[in-house]
Amino acid sequence: MKKLAVFASGSGSNFEAIVKGQKNYEVVLLIVDKLDAYALVRARKMGIESVALPAKDFVNKQEHEEAIVSILKEYDIDFIALAGYMRLLGETLLNEYSSKIVNIHPSLLPNFKGKEAIKQAVEAGVDTIGVTVHWVDFGMDTGEIIEQKSFLVNKGESISDIENRVHEIEHILYPKVLNELLK
Ligand code: GRF
Repeated sequence: MKKLAVFASGSGSNFEAIVKGQKNYEVVLLIVDKLDAYALVRARKMGIESVALPAKDFVNKQEHEEAIVSILKEYDIDFIALAGYMRLLGETLLNEYSSKIVNIHPSLLPNFKGKEAIKQAVEAGVDTIGVTVHWVDFGMDTGEIIEQKSFLVNKGESISDIENRVHEIEHILYPKVLNELLK
């Protein structure tokens, strides 16, 4: 069984869904870069080990990532799922885990990369919104697309209603794709 680490910076609802949906992989570790990430609480409740490594405790990105890699090795991690991890990955992580890192993004990439993707889509007036699981490369949400799921926006639907629907889709799509990739 492949050992998975999830990286998060905030709430961690996708992290929880990835843990609950595990079949062909085992989530053994949560890595966060924020001491107050709610994902840490979820990890404790689910009995998953977690490590918090704030970037500001390190002199640069390379040293931060070297510390992360040494923890990943300690836990024998095979594969990484980014889930709301608000940090671009650098050479150290990408070389060490080449073709073994995926991310989920709340838009139909290549449209609306980066922060506040749902708000960007609503402001652009699109009628179809969606979610993308993709491979991670050096860019911001630029890696090769693995799978997407879309839905039509209802007239007058608020951003928070849309966000809820995006999350519902993410929580099904992400574990599904991980189970397929890691079987
Ligand atoms: C998700 O919408 C994900 O697509 C994006 O960040 C959000 C994280 O939410 N990359 P959560 O922390 O998993 O609840």
